[in-house]
Amino acid sequence: MNKKPKTWSSVSLNMNQKRKSSSLRRLFNFVFLLAVVFLIGNAFITVDYKQGSIPGWSSIIRLNLGKLKMCKTQLRPLGSETLPRGIVASTSDLEMRPLWGAQRNKNPKQNLLAMAIGIKQKESVNKIIKKFSSSEFAVMLFHYDGTVDEWKEYEWSETAIHVSVVNQTKWWFAKRFLHPDIVSAYSYIFLWDEDLGVDHFDAKRYVSIIREEGLEISQPALDPNLSEVHHQLTSRDSKSRVHRRTYKVIGKARCNENSTGPPCTGFVEMMAPVFSRAAWRCAWHMIQNDLNHGWGIDFQLGYCAQGDRTKNIGIVDSEYILHLGLPTLGGSDANKMDSEQIDKTKTEDSSDKSKPSSTSQMSSARSEVRKQTYAELETFKHRWRNAVKNDECWIDRFQQ
Ligand SMILES: *[C@@H]1O[C@H](CO)[C@@H](O)[C@H](O)[C@H]1NC(C)=O
Ligand SMILES: *[C@@H]1O[C@H](CO)[C@@H](O)[C@H](O)[C@H]1NC(C)=O
Ligand SMILES: *[C@@H]1O[C@H](CO)[C@@H](O)[C@H](O)[C@H]1NC(C)=O
Repeated sequence: MNKKPKTWSSVSLNMNQKRKSSSLRRLFNFVFLLAVVFLIGNAFITVDYKQGSIPGWSSIIRLNLGKLKMCKTQLRPLGSETLPRGIVASTSDLEMRPLWGAQRNKNPKQNLLAMAIGIKQKESVNKIIKKFSSSEFAVMLFHYDGTVDEWKEYEWSETAIHVSVVNQTKWWFAKRFLHPDIVSAYSYIFLWDEDLGVDHFDAKRYVSIIREEGLEISQPALDPNLSEVHHQLTSRDSKSRVHRRTYKVIGKARCNENSTGPPCTGFVEMMAPVFSRAAWRCAWHMIQNDLNHGWGIDFQLGYCAQGDRTKNIGIVDSEYILHLGLPTLGGSDANKMDSEQIDKTKTEDSSDKSKPSSTSQMSSARSEVRKQTYAELETFKHRWRNAVKNDECWIDRFQQ
């Protein structure tokens, strides 16, 4: 058989020879194609001089072709593709709104303080929240002991957002209630423990310092005289305003000006981190839904620093805090304490000394929690290694 390309003449030739239905179909297809080409071509011509008239088929086709081209590149929030863009509200905030009448507060709050708290730490929690002026900070409280009403004596309690779920950690709450789209209105997010001393801390000054220094992730320095300091990097240097690295020898690491990562530079501890909006959006994704204690995240936070972690992560020395290191759910470092310190705090804490059995139950719960944190740390490290191995497109920007 002659395998010529199927031109018009070959088609008609075939028709003359054998009146097969397949040839007829081919002809029909061809005619249809011609019609479409004519229509579209017509559209390009007619619209040019029929401006203002009611759009016909041709111009509709042309319009949609144009739209298709233009909209291909537009990203829409997942799930909102069938809605017109202008109606899509993909972010929220924690502002209270009146049931009727005009908006009372015309100045939305700039930043957010979020804490996991229990009524046993009433005094220190009150002191902390009072340091965050109500006009600039939204306050969100996670009650891990189910106690909400007992906080009503404080004026700030009225305007705070209260979330109460028993026996959950700060990270559990943060993963569920601080979704980046919900808190995107806030420039900085303070995700703090409750066992912090804030006599030498001013939130407003702190924010102006980190803004000036361009710190995407930060924490106030820890007073080394009165705090539990687990990492040299976060210890206060009384001679500086902000520091970003330590020059000490830490275990095997000899920290110096050339160090590029933890434990020498580029991380903060988890008791009082402060995130920029962008850094939080990243960090939220790193928090594992099922790992409640957040261990291991601190050393990987550099990946959320929006650039160079040795520059964008820092410790503020001029506004510093005390870390009391109480073994509470709102105090994530409780588990790092040695048993002697736990015993000491236990006797200080237990108001009811006639019930030694409940105290020993508490300390056994604590040792279980401690075990859990180490197990979770290993799980997190394992997941990170796997994720790196399995993601061919990921580039390690901090590769040594
Ligand atoms: C919360 O934890 C405490 C102490 O570990 C325990 O006694 C209590 O039963 C727990 N409550 C819930 C609802 O799990
Ligand atoms: C710790 O105590 C020493 C000696 O009293 C003092 O010089 C230093 O400033 C204190 N450090 C801080 C961070 O307050
Ligand atoms: C840091 O790096 C520079 C340049 O490579 C080098 O000259 C210097 O000795 C290094 N410093 C330390 C403490 O290793």
